[in-house]
Formats: sequence, C-alpha cells, structure tokens
Amino acid sequence: MPTKPTMRAVHADRYGPPEVLHIDQLPVPEPKPNEIRVRILASAVTASDIFIRSAQVTPRLQVPFRLMMGITKPRQPILGFVFSGIVDATGADTSRFSPGDQVYGCTGFRLGAYAEYRCMPETDSRVHGCLAHKPATLSHEDATAAAYGGLLALQYVDRGHIQPGDSVLIYGASGTSGTIAVQYAKSLGARVTAVCSTANVDLVQGLGADHVLDYTTSDTAPPGARYNFVLDSVGGLKSSKLKEACKLALEANGRWVSIDDGDLELSSQRLDQITALVEEGKLKPVVSAIYRLHDIVEAHRIVQAGHKRGGVAITL
Ligand SMILES: NC(=O)c1ccc[n+]([C@@H]2O[C@H](COP(=O)([O-])OP(=O)(O)OC[C@H]3O[C@@H](n4cnc5c(N)ncnc54)[C@H](OP(=O)(O)O)[C@@H]3O)[C@@H](O)[C@H]2O)c1
Repeated sequence: MPTKPTMRAVHADRYGPPEVLHIDQLPVPEPKPNEIRVRILASAVTASDIFIRSAQVTPRLQVPFRLMMGITKPRQPILGFVFSGIVDATGADTSRFSPGDQVYGCTGFRLGAYAEYRCMPETDSRVHGCLAHKPATLSHEDATAAAYGGLLALQYVDRGHIQPGDSVLIYGASGTSGTIAVQYAKSLGARVTAVCSTANVDLVQGLGADHVLDYTTSDTAPPGARYNFVLDSVGGLKSSKLKEACKLALEANGRWVSIDDGDLELSSQRLDQITALVEEGKLKPVVSAIYRLHDIVEAHRIVQAGHKRGGVAITL
C-alpha cells in the first residue's frame, strides 16, 4: 500500500514555556471542496503565538481563554498564526486561487501555520483566518510581518480617522505593528512622533517618523505637545501609567486607541489593501531575524523577551 505523504509541523501538547514546542511528522492535509492547500514557506513568531502557547492571561480572562483555546492544553496543537506560501492544491468548489499562486495571511483560531502545509477556506472568518495574494515585491518572510503587523496597524490606525496634517503619537513604534503604523500614518499625511527605546531610534527614523522619543531617556509624552491621535501599539498597557500618558498627550478632541481594544479583524480585503500599499512603496515590513523551523524554541525565547525589532520570521 502506498504510504501517505507527511509533513513537518511544530506541535505543543500542553501550555507552557517555549520548550513545550517540538517537531512532529504528520500527514499532509487534504483540502475539502471549499478549501485550498498552501505549501507554507514562511511563518513567524508573533505576540499571538506567545500568548496562546504560554496561556499567560490575566485571571479574569483564564476561563474565556481556555474555553476558546482548550481547557488543559491547546485544542489546536499545531501553533502558528501567520503564513506566506504557494497554493499547491484547490478544492472543487474554490475559485479565488489557482495552484502556483503566492499567498499570505493569518490562520485564525485554528492556528496551524507552523507546518509545511495548511488547508484554508477561501472566505474570511475568525476561526479559519484570511488570505490574499502576496505582494510580489516581498519575500515570504517579509510577507508574514506585512500580514500580522499590517492587519493590526491598519485596523487600529484607521480608528484614528487621520486627516492630512494631523499630529500622531505612536508608542511601540519598533514592533511588528508599530513599524507599519508609523509608515501607514505617514502615508495618510500625518506628522508622526514615534516612541521607542534607544537601540531602535535609527530604525524608526528610517521609517519616516518626523520626531522620535526615546522612552528610556525622556518623558513618555513631551510636556506641552498635544496630538490629534495617540496609538498604543505596545499592548497590555491599559492599566499602566502609559495609559495616562496617552490621554495627557491628546488635544481637546483627540482620540487614543489601544491595539488591545477589541479583536483583530481577519480580513482579506485589508490584506489586499496592504498588498497595494507595499506595491506602491508606501509600506515596507521590518523583519529583524529569520529562524529555521528546527530552531522554533529559540525563536520563541527571543520573542518572549519582549524587545524584538519588527517581526521574527520562521522559514520552512
Ligand atoms: N486586538 C487584538 O486582537 C490583538 C491581536 C494580536 C496582538 N495584539 C496586541 O498587539 C500588540 C503588539 O504586537 P506586535 O507584534 O506589534 O508587538 P511587538 O512586535 O512585540 O512590539 C512591541 C514593541 O513595544 C516596544 N515597547 C515596549 N515598551 C514600550 C514603551 N513603554 N514605550 C514604547 N514602546 C515600548 C518594544 O520595543 P523596545 O524593545 O524598544 O522596548 C516592542 O518593539 C501585542 O502585544 C498584543 O497586545 C492585539
């Protein structure tokens, strides 16, 4: 009898530190009629992967988190939230993509991007995720940062209703979403002040920020300066003193938005918008390190430390 083809996949059979991750050999999935199959060439270690693997959520969120993700262990043991790759098979009822198309996207709560193959429906959903044609000018590794950082940045920057000439303050400007938020706000005509640590000042200036504040050496908001829109793209700051700094930095009718307010929308339309902005030269994702699948534990350790620049990609 012919043996079934198998693939490499990163498996977490319990919640815990990076060491719970290990590589398994699993059957290659077959697409259902409404699905395409992607040969994944790159994934990434994102804030979402760390959050799910570690299950480190506040006591108030432990019950909803475990009901959604699995009570005692991840219900979807193959982690990985973002991917870029090539369509290698299509179900009978699909029409958006053909074998050979280069695609990128997010997998939603079903996760599964830390694997060589992943089947995806063509339609968007919070469970199954979203996908679109990859920007032709990006590598697969850079495309993972464009998908994750772009979906976050565009959704939350759009909440600021930026008008040309507005003053915008962005905390966390060196992260996966922050690096894209700075460029997107500039593309909308804003004057952008970006907040990051000393090591990332040059990076953030290079992204087009008009002013850069080093939060390790200066006040979190410059005294007297007032902004039309303040974006916290660090996350997890709602109860910290930065929340107050965000509000103090606003002008009278200004808006502040935390990247943790509400759920990330998984939208192929927004991915198409990201693709267009990249191809027009208005967005350039930042990837500071690329690890092999084999080194996934080390990649998770680095990202969990909390000070990466832009994205950290995994090459398959
Ligand atoms: N709403 C949703 O459904 C949803 C979904 C996914 C993620 N998120 C949120 O999105 C957040 C951002 O994700 P990401 O991938 O962009 O994170 P990231 O790449 O880890 O970036 C966070 C950045 O914040 C910087 N930072 C830390 N403390 C700071 C401070 N006091 N002031 C200014 N910058 C500071 C860090 O840079 P330094 O090294 O310079 O400190 C780091 O580069 C996540 O943490 C998560 O909370 C929300």
